[in-house]
Amino acid sequence: MILLALETSCDETSAAVVRDGVILSNVVSSQIKLHAEYGGVVPELAAREHLRNLTPVTEAALREAGIVVSELDAVAATRGPGLPTALLMGFKAAQAMAFALRKPFVGINHHEAHLYSPWISGSPPRADFSAFEPNVSLIVSGGHTMLVHVESELKHRVLGGTIDDAAGECFDKTGKLMGLAYPAGPIIDRLAEQGNPEAYDFPRPLLNDSNDDFSFSGLKTSVRYFLRDHPALRENEQSIRDLCASVQAAIVEVLVVKTMRAVKRIGVKCVTASGGVTCNRALRRSLSEACEKRGIKLRLAEGSLCTDNAAMVGVLAERKLLINAPANAYDEDIQPGLVLV
Ligand code: KG4
Ligand code: ZN
Repeated sequence: MILLALETSCDETSAAVVRDGVILSNVVSSQIKLHAEYGGVVPELAAREHLRNLTPVTEAALREAGIVVSELDAVAATRGPGLPTALLMGFKAAQAMAFALRKPFVGINHHEAHLYSPWISGSPPRADFSAFEPNVSLIVSGGHTMLVHVESELKHRVLGGTIDDAAGECFDKTGKLMGLAYPAGPIIDRLAEQGNPEAYDFPRPLLNDSNDDFSFSGLKTSVRYFLRDHPALRENEQSIRDLCASVQAAIVEVLVVKTMRAVKRIGVKCVTASGGVTCNRALRRSLSEACEKRGIKLRLAEGSLCTDNAAMVGVLAERKLLINAPANAYDEDIQPGLVLV
């Protein structure tokens, strides 16, 4: 099966071509520079940029894959959750293409696409569901932090999630308080490599609660008060590196401890992790160490597949069609508030 997928849920315009589980192309045009001067994603600007980028990005994905439109067997796009005007661009374009080709259209839950992205690996990247094992999965993106029990392929249950700020938001918002550019997550990751994670002691919210929920707004607030009480700290480069390392250590500890606790309680032997924050080196190291210590297998989404991309949407859509999940109507609507259950 040859499938074209589009992803426009936030600030990345992406198109990918997938053939029988192999990613033939995955073109991502990031709008990070455009939104950086506003300190966050501006929905209306994102939508306009998607409109501008969709045709060249889709053409590039088809060209790179060596596929012409008439060869496509299906078209997919992210249906939600996401910014309504941004989602509309990719979703409606994909529906129109599928309608013109008289081929099935599949609308995909963005979080479900992240959830199965750790099963894509290799060069060229391919989805390897033959290696699937029941697992506890940590999804850590910009707006969501979630723990999910994946019992079997495409059968999952959300265990808990963020009740206020997500881990990615916490990186971005505390970074903003330190005067770092948006998105601050990757910058904190880089600065923290030369910082002391024990320099400052920040709270580990909900660490000792027995549920699988997350809350990072208290951590953000304590960084705000800390910076208010130590204004000179911003001027010292090493202090900022130490602060980055200390904030990162608090976020990573909460994510890893709560993931491993769920693993133990449920009794699975495999952990997977995905979403933008999974790029974070301290998180990758800490999850690796924790899993190795307990003899648990770990599958982390590959770097380029952690942040938003259409390849993960395409892989999931193809999988759904292969197990005969019904295709979606050509006039179905986006679902900006779609939740994973
Ligand atoms: O999954 P994603 O690309 O978009 C959403 O679906 O939200 O995640 C973006 C988030 C941002 O908050 C960004 O700061 C964070 O992922 N991020 C990182 C790193 N790379 C991206 N956070 C910490 N360390 C990183 N290396
Ligand atoms: Zn995402």
